[in-house]
Amino acid sequence: MARLTVNNQPVEFRIDGETPLLWALRDAANLTGTKYGCGTGECGACLVIVDGQAMPSCTLSLGEADGRTVTTIEGLAAWGGAPDRNHPVQQAFVADQAVQCGFCTPGLIVAAAALLARNTDPTEADIAAAVTNICRCGVYPRLVRTIQRAGRIMRGEEAGVPVPAPAMATTPGL
Ligand code: FES
Ligand code: FES
Repeated sequence: MARLTVNNQPVEFRIDGETPLLWALRDAANLTGTKYGCGTGECGACLVIVDGQAMPSCTLSLGEADGRTVTTIEGLAAWGGAPDRNHPVQQAFVADQAVQCGFCTPGLIVAAAALLARNTDPTEADIAAAVTNICRCGVYPRLVRTIQRAGRIMRGEEAGVPVPAPAMATTPGL
C-alpha cells in the first residue's frame, strides 16, 4: 500500500509496492496519459513530475513514491497555474503543431514543463540537456522553438494560445 498526492488529490494505492509507478497510475488510477515506451528509464514516454522533478515512472516503484507528490500530464495545467489542458507548454505544442503520432508527446510536455518551472528562458543547450526524450516521429526540429515559445508565454512576452476544449473524447492528457 502507498499513499501519494496525485494531481493535487490524495490517493491510496492498495497494490504491491514493487509495482512500477507507471502501472499504478495507468492501471489503478486510470491516468493513461503517461505512456510506456522502453521500460528502462531511457525514452521519457513515462515522465511524470515527482516533487517538482521530471522522473521516469517506469523505473520508480510505487513504494519509492510513497508519500510523494506526483503530477501527471492530466494534472499538468493545474500544476502550472493554468486552466485544464492550457499549461503554456501545451499551448505552444498545439500552436506549433509539434506533435506527429502523439505517443511521446505527454512525456515531452512534462519534461519541458519541469525545465520551464526552473528556467523560463532556456537556451537551446539548456533544452537539449533537459529534454532528452526519444521521439520516433522526429519532432526534434520544432522542440526548441516550441519550448522557447512556451517560455515567452510564461514570461508574459507573448500572448497565450488557448487550447480549445475537445469536441469529443480524445487521448487523455494530450
Ligand atoms: S517507458 Fe519509462 S523511460 Fe521509457
Ligand atoms: S510524435 Fe510520434 S513518437 Fe513522437
